[in-house]
Amino acid sequence: MYDSTNICSNTSGSIGRGRYLSTESNKIDEPLKVEEAETVNVPPPPAEKLLVLGGTGFVGSHICKEALHRGLSVASLSRSGKSSVPESWANKVQWHQGDLLSGDSWKEALTGVTSIVSCVGGFGSNSYMYKINGTANITAIRAAAEKGVKRFVYISAADTGVINYFLQGYYDGKRAAETELLVRYPYGHVILRPGFIYGNRRVGSMEVPLGVIGSPLEMLLQHAKPLTQIPLVGPLLTPPVNVTAVAKVAVRAAIDPVFPPGIVDVHGLQRYSQQK
Ligand SMILES: NC(=O)c1ccc[n+]([C@@H]2O[C@H](COP(=O)([O-])OP(=O)(O)OC[C@H]3O[C@@H](n4cnc5c(N)ncnc54)[C@H](OP(=O)(O)O)[C@@H]3O)[C@@H](O)[C@H]2O)c1
Repeated sequence: MYDSTNICSNTSGSIGRGRYLSTESNKIDEPLKVEEAETVNVPPPPAEKLLVLGGTGFVGSHICKEALHRGLSVASLSRSGKSSVPESWANKVQWHQGDLLSGDSWKEALTGVTSIVSCVGGFGSNSYMYKINGTANITAIRAAAEKGVKRFVYISAADTGVINYFLQGYYDGKRAAETELLVRYPYGHVILRPGFIYGNRRVGSMEVPLGVIGSPLEMLLQHAKPLTQIPLVGPLLTPPVNVTAVAKVAVRAAIDPVFPPGIVDVHGLQRYSQQK
């Protein structure tokens, strides 16, 4: 956020950053007349524009909220379009309706976008899971790169060991999207790989407090990192992570030019989310 107290106007009305000292005097004997700079309120320069793919979902809505809190201009794209969340922040999001798996009209949502966080993903049959986690994101990554969007953050998922076998389309899709991201955004990608994400999940008009299970499990498992290395069953001990932590790291990864490209696992998510 910009601090307007350092933004001053000189007597001719021009506006700039820093203090102006007016020295308009022709008489050498006269002491220099210094006019006090006036503090004016000017709006900050146009903010970065973040597009959240799947901003109506559980994780996506928290990312929209966090990005607005940081003063960004925020847009969302999803098949349902406008979110039904009855909270005031939702009125500040530019909601786009479109299906990444159908047609090209959704690409209008990319106009003026400087960075993207994709929360598009889901479960179903193996072929559906591959499409929604893989193909839909691959399409978005390609279109974003062609449009010149600078950074792309993808919410992927941690390995779940034996369970991967039952969710093959899900994990194959996730890894295919990650591979595309590495190719199209070698320096501008960040891949987040959380395990279970907890927080208040809205289902219809109800809020389901997933933290009741997630929070104590996170406390318990965050110190069991070595156990997660055990083949097949180890990944089941990946600690859950709070949705607000995921949102904080995702937004930072999307806008901070020194955030390093690469994969952030759940321990990295916890570490980054604790930083100021
Ligand atoms: N929740 C977890 O515990 C967890 C754990 C690890 C990883 N993840 C990953 O994190 C991401 C977000 O998860 P979530 O729980 O927030 O999921 P979610 O609530 O189901 O949100 C998915 C979002 O994607 C949108 N979407 C789906 N298909 C689309 C399409 N073809 N075109 C445009 N938008 C589409 C959905 O909106 P519409 O249906 O209106 O299109 C929704 O906004 C997913 O990739 C998930 O795999 C989640």
